[in-house]
Amino acid sequence: MAGELRLSLTGPQAAFVTAEDRFPAIVAGFGSGKTEALVNRLLVRKIAYPGGWVGYYGPTFDLINLIAVPRFEGILEQHGFAFKLNKQEMVMKVRKLGAFVFRTMERPERIIGFETADAGVDELDTLKIAHAEHAWRKIIARNRQKKPNGERNTVAVATTPEGFRFTHRQWVKAKADGYKLFHASTYSNAHNLPEDYIPSLEASYPPQLLKAYLEGQFVNLTSGAIYPDFDRKLNHTPETIKADEPLHIGMDFNVYKMAAVVHVMRDGLPRALAELVNLRDTPAMIEAIKSRYGNAGRSITIYPDASGDNKSSKGASLSDIVMLKGAGFQVSVGHSNPAVKDRIASVNGMILNAKGERRYLVNTDACPITTECIEQQVYDETNGEPDKKSGFDHTNDGLGYFLHRRFPIVVNTLQRLQVVGA
Ligand SMILES: Nc1ncnc2c1ncn2[C@@H]1O[C@H](COP(=O)(O)OP(=O)(O)OP(=O)(O)O)[C@@H](O)[C@H]1O
Ligand SMILES: [Mg+2]
Repeated sequence: MAGELRLSLTGPQAAFVTAEDRFPAIVAGFGSGKTEALVNRLLVRKIAYPGGWVGYYGPTFDLINLIAVPRFEGILEQHGFAFKLNKQEMVMKVRKLGAFVFRTMERPERIIGFETADAGVDELDTLKIAHAEHAWRKIIARNRQKKPNGERNTVAVATTPEGFRFTHRQWVKAKADGYKLFHASTYSNAHNLPEDYIPSLEASYPPQLLKAYLEGQFVNLTSGAIYPDFDRKLNHTPETIKADEPLHIGMDFNVYKMAAVVHVMRDGLPRALAELVNLRDTPAMIEAIKSRYGNAGRSITIYPDASGDNKSSKGASLSDIVMLKGAGFQVSVGHSNPAVKDRIASVNGMILNAKGERRYLVNTDACPITTECIEQQVYDETNGEPDKKSGFDHTNDGLGYFLHRRFPIVVNTLQRLQVVGA
């Protein structure tokens, strides 16, 4: 029985694992032990009702396969339960305890064909609101196996808060019966984490995001200024470009509004020291860069957007990239653009990290438009996306491609876990 399991849990984990509410949710920081708590909770439920099935849902198959399944295997082994995983069906049979079933939320319409008595959902808020809601409805509809003692069926959620998304809507705003919220900060699990885990988050994330990702708080991540910590005095540098110094140019493509922010690296950190704005097209941009900086021998790397080979006025086309290379520039670009959210997080982390360091400096005299754009671009209230109507987006996109490529913040759970496990 559950009472015989000896679990060693943090305070918030214990509250969540033992919660009797129908829909408990632990909304907590990176590495705070959410997944661990969820797996423990599901094992406890499984032992309490061995006849029933228990469901585990993750955002992607990889997260299930590489993180959740090994975690279940570890915990079952630790407690001496024999089990066998059917990889085809993603069903794990545990001797004397019945089965766990693993499903992804990628295609909620496929969450059919089985019933559970209890279930758990990991990283629900990584899904967009409508997707999360769809998955949630499907999951709770599956969760109806009758328990012998008439006890209620439960579905538990463990997630990092990603702004005001589905979890906030359902557990805070709607506050329907049975929905119970638990918070935990990463600090509460610090004794189980490598020593440099929290300091490395503080070194790369901006303060506002860390409120969400370390403290597990709901923070509005898509309203107001996009780069709230930029300060034209504190992020200013009077430095200028030296002859022959290698250049790193972030570039955004828009007909008649081509924008480029010219950087150098000093002590391994980026400085924006010049800008080229409102140019007509790629050939005009190439000519401008060459006439300003094109002395033989200087290394110039362009970081364009990767919108692909469209012919529209937006985004770099294949021929733009070919032209840049043909002009003798190095081009650093991925197969696709980073998620806007990740690009913005990288820029913000460079402007100011949670340790108070401003690693991105701008010569605000030499880059007046860039400075104005960083200060003034806001989130569009109607869709929560960065505003593009006011014209403050171009240089920001350009410098963002560069900063994200050279100073990315790793936000994906899988990689976080690799860091933790390392
Ligand atoms: N109660 C515990 N006892 C021992 N180790 C624990 C405990 N809880 C968590 N850990 C360890 O701490 C690390 C982080 O835990 P876990 O992966 O569950 O956190 P998470 O919040 O799900 O992380 P992420 O934000 O990356 O998804 C893991 O190495 C895990 O094994
Ligand atoms: Mg996790």
